Amino acid sequence: MAHVVPMTSLDNTYDADDLGEFVRRVKDGLPASADPVFCVEPKLDGASIEILYRNGRLEGGSTRGDGLTGEDVTLNLRTMRSLPLTIDHAGPLTLRAEVVIYRRDLERINRERAALGESLFANPRNAASGALRMLDPRVVASRGLRAVVWQVVEGETLAKTHSGALARLAELGLPTARKERICRNLEELLEAVQGLDAARRDFPYETDGAVIKVDEFSQQAILGATAKFPRWAIAYKFGAERATTRVLDIEVGVGRTGVLTPVAILEPVQLAGTVVSRASLHNEQIVGQLDVRIGDEVSIEKAGEIIPQVVSVAHAARQGQERSFSMPTHCPSCGTAVERVPGEVAVRCPNPECPEQVKGAIFHFSRRFAMDVDRLGEALIEQLVAKKAVHDVADLYVLTAETLESLERMGKKSAENVLASIVRSKEQTLDRLLTGLGIEHVGQVAARQLAEAAGSLETLLGWDDAEVVAHVSAIAGFGPKLVESVRSFLADAVKRPLLERLRDLGVSRPQPRAVLTEGPLSGSSFCVTGVLSRRREDVHADIRARGGEVHDKIKQGTTYLVIGEKVGKAKLDAAKKFGTKILTEAELATLLEGNSG
Ligand code: IVH
Repeated sequence: MAHVVPMTSLDNTYDADDLGEFVRRVKDGLPASADPVFCVEPKLDGASIEILYRNGRLEGGSTRGDGLTGEDVTLNLRTMRSLPLTIDHAGPLTLRAEVVIYRRDLERINRERAALGESLFANPRNAASGALRMLDPRVVASRGLRAVVWQVVEGETLAKTHSGALARLAELGLPTARKERICRNLEELLEAVQGLDAARRDFPYETDGAVIKVDEFSQQAILGATAKFPRWAIAYKFGAERATTRVLDIEVGVGRTGVLTPVAILEPVQLAGTVVSRASLHNEQIVGQLDVRIGDEVSIEKAGEIIPQVVSVAHAARQGQERSFSMPTHCPSCGTAVERVPGEVAVRCPNPECPEQVKGAIFHFSRRFAMDVDRLGEALIEQLVAKKAVHDVADLYVLTAETLESLERMGKKSAENVLASIVRSKEQTLDRLLTGLGIEHVGQVAARQLAEAAGSLETLLGWDDAEVVAHVSAIAGFGPKLVESVRSFLADAVKRPLLERLRDLGVSRPQPRAVLTEGPLSGSSFCVTGVLSRRREDVHADIRARGGEVHDKIKQGTTYLVIGEKVGKAKLDAAKKFGTKILTEAELATLLEGNSG
């Protein structure tokens, strides 16, 4: 696609002198009577695109390409929630924008890629420009790309000034940064630039500088452009959000399920407003790909809001004393010999009494979507496990005020509150308990189906092995993997007595019977994923009310995958594999409306 006007680049400045020089050049290039006003805005670090609206409709879009023509990415732009498909403006509008990925989205994408053993994106820019050119718009949708408009190249009738045009675009519902500042002299310009530098850690996306533009379109036209850059705008670059430090050690953390995760312990270094002293290395394979050793000098970048990544290793700077890392053969928390999970990158500690696993299990149990023991924080769990006051989730229900009061920073009143929240959690229905137990492959939906099939913990425990298999296999959508996971959990030498204790302690209420609804969606099954505009439970309830079935995971036979924002690649791949149709939230809404239950 040819650009209406070539997409050039910006000249860069790095200090006050350079910026002063720019202001002088601008003044020299304009009639003496002109008193130029400048607009200062963030320079977003993403991929630039051109967007065309014609007769109020999003008609097309392209990448920067070589500046004269770019790749057509219309379909991908249409998946971006931030870009309206129609606007209330009939005249032609050609806009330039930056496509960005929010830091928190990148963090999630990298976590998912690490779990799949894929290489990680060093920064949101790489992830954004890669996604923009991908051929599958559904994958693009799952990356959470967003556009932020920074220029109007056609449609100047909107306003006489750049800042006025941006304000008008925002009124039309188009995404703009909304951080513009009007400045009249160098002093104000420097203040605005420094203000953006100081505030940028709080922006959801990465910025690498400020852009200073002459605000009046008529003055921009007089100034014109050189072969490479416009004369009416300039970038002021900030220092990179990257830091160099040393790996002091590589420690290994143990999660709730016993998976071991290597973590680089770093010489503390200032990065993007915080001191960084740890960075997850995700798994053994990633340590190998980076070839990182203890003692190595590394570059770290803050790709996400909190979690810094090691992006590169200065292999050439090695002195010879660096020590390579290998996964321990024994769990660092309890000393049990670790096991490799066949077919996975993960290494696991098999000891269910491992203190780190116990802590993780109790934390999971008390989460809001499970038993919701809201007064039980991580620090408190840590102390309880360290003092051997609790060994498993059932121990929570026999905790005494005395034990709690003996803990650090725990007064009488707080202890009472903690106890009350534990007692309250006994009233949760069986599905919450089953969710909280963290049975492998059993998410919130499967837990509810299992709870509905059994009715109560009492009944569930009354089934013998064969009955478990018979009842659980009969649950819609429960395949052999899930059935075996439930069976082995219920027969486990540690888990079964735990469940029996929970039963004897009166934990969990019976599950209301599922009312089998016959409806227009009977025979169709749905898996709902990603962030939706409504609570996921409510979406499930709407589907069930019309006779539809809800699956936790996509499997052979799942009719629809409903995708919200931030959908993982694994889910989309599975949909492709099983021939599951993809529905956006809006499409689901249409389906539900047409089939009111
Ligand atoms: S104005 C004629 N404004 O930076 C060029 N560019 O180095 C006018 N960018 O290719 C560019 N944020 O991709 C402008 N607020 C902003 C920007 C911005 C990011 C990018 C853009 C451009 C590059 C120039």
